[in-house]
Amino acid sequence: MATEEPHAGPRHVAIIMDGNGRWAQAKGRPRLFGHHAGAKRVKEIVRACKPLGVKYLTIFAFSTENWKRTQSEVSGLMSLFRQYIRRETRGLIDEGVCVRFIGDRVRLDPKLVKLMDELEESTAGNDVVNLTIAINYGGRDEVARATRRLAKDVADGKLSPDEVNEETLPKYLDTRVLPDPDLVIRTSGEARISNFLLWQSAYAEYEFVNTLWPDFSDEEFQKVVGSFGKRKRRFGAVPA
Ligand code: FPP
Repeated sequence: MATEEPHAGPRHVAIIMDGNGRWAQAKGRPRLFGHHAGAKRVKEIVRACKPLGVKYLTIFAFSTENWKRTQSEVSGLMSLFRQYIRRETRGLIDEGVCVRFIGDRVRLDPKLVKLMDELEESTAGNDVVNLTIAINYGGRDEVARATRRLAKDVADGKLSPDEVNEETLPKYLDTRVLPDPDLVIRTSGEARISNFLLWQSAYAEYEFVNTLWPDFSDEEFQKVVGSFGKRKRRFGAVPA
């Protein structure tokens, strides 16, 4: 589908929430203080989606590479995820948010996985905003896991090798029920995609902002989402 016309805002926004550690360090506080402030921003940005017409929000909370951080930061983040789910479940249900998690759950603590499963179940009927939280997620790992499942289906005769194409492969990705992101935002001034939604972002627009994640306000989110409508997306086509 090619278009030269200015179009409506992004339906699916994905965010690499970077800069919590630097934000905390600048205040002379431990890194976890920054992650807690970051979690507070998550709550508010989710609320900001509906009035902007953002139907899908996908956030990068913990990458497959983040295990390399100190043990205390990793366990602090895991405990923050548990706390976030426990504290926010009621509000998310009331606000009509459907929550999903992507990433490999195998390495996660079973107590956290149980909370994730319960939150997915209790919000499954909602459709005001679709929030996807990436935990132990890596784009390459996701494609590798998808390929493994697909290869099993081929081996079992459920799928022919000739049927492996751009339509069938995404059905094996963690994001199979989601549309591709239209806009990917990364905070904190780093211009990298860090293994986030590699397959899905093939035609996404990128916006790199200097603000550290805990300072990324609703107003700035609104501005970035608003500027998306002024871009011309051609999806590889030549303008008519
Ligand atoms: C990157 O900043 C941030 C993370 C690795 C963790 C993201 C987690 C949150 C925003 C909070 C919790 C989220 C939920 C869903 C409850 P960084 O630590 O790499 O910062 P730095 O680059 O300044 O060191």
